[in-house]
Amino acid sequence: MDASDAGTDLDHVLFTEAQIHDRLQELGDRIWADYKDKDLLLVGVLKGAVLVMADLMRTLPGSAPMDWMAVSSYGSGTKSSGVVRILKDLDTDISGKHVLIVEDIIDSGLTLNWIRSNLLSRDPASLEICTLLRKPDAAKVAIDCRYVGFDIPNEFVVGYGLDYDERYRNLRDIGTLAPHVYS
Ligand code: XMP
Ligand code: MG
Repeated sequence: MDASDAGTDLDHVLFTEAQIHDRLQELGDRIWADYKDKDLLLVGVLKGAVLVMADLMRTLPGSAPMDWMAVSSYGSGTKSSGVVRILKDLDTDISGKHVLIVEDIIDSGLTLNWIRSNLLSRDPASLEICTLLRKPDAAKVAIDCRYVGFDIPNEFVVGYGLDYDERYRNLRDIGTLAPHVYS
């Protein structure tokens, strides 16, 4: 990757870093109001949710532990396969805990749907989902998501942890990729 990539490969910015931070603060306020008296465990999905987790947890006025899970659903392309495999499981026993899954994006919903049922089988006290982005027009399964940052059109986006073939995760804003990147 060279320094000019972001300038030529991005089509347009959807959300700036400041807009993302403002929205995460609003979600964090709601989350804290809902969970302040509960045994909350934040569960992030690697790798895309790393930056969402980092910024969301710092909006909380108190501390909550985090754990991570890694699954594979995409190869290097842009379409969900629907086949999910656990690459890294949680370190924590979640039974009796109030689990909040922290995600970067819900596209078809297939990945999160699978993660959700997998975690539910481990008897958490409750299980809710927080996602920064959601593509309503791409949904293949309905997912009940309590905290949603932004609904976006059905376009592939990168930045703020989101990648295309492991690139662009470091961009501070979220934007769409120019068509030439895919070809
Ligand atoms: P599904 O379709 O199963 O996809 O909901 C979930 C996972 O796929 C990745 N994903 C994206 N990554 N830009 C990305 O960089 C996108 O527009 C996009 N759509 C889906 C992401 O890892 C998500 O957790
Ligand atoms: Mg993800």
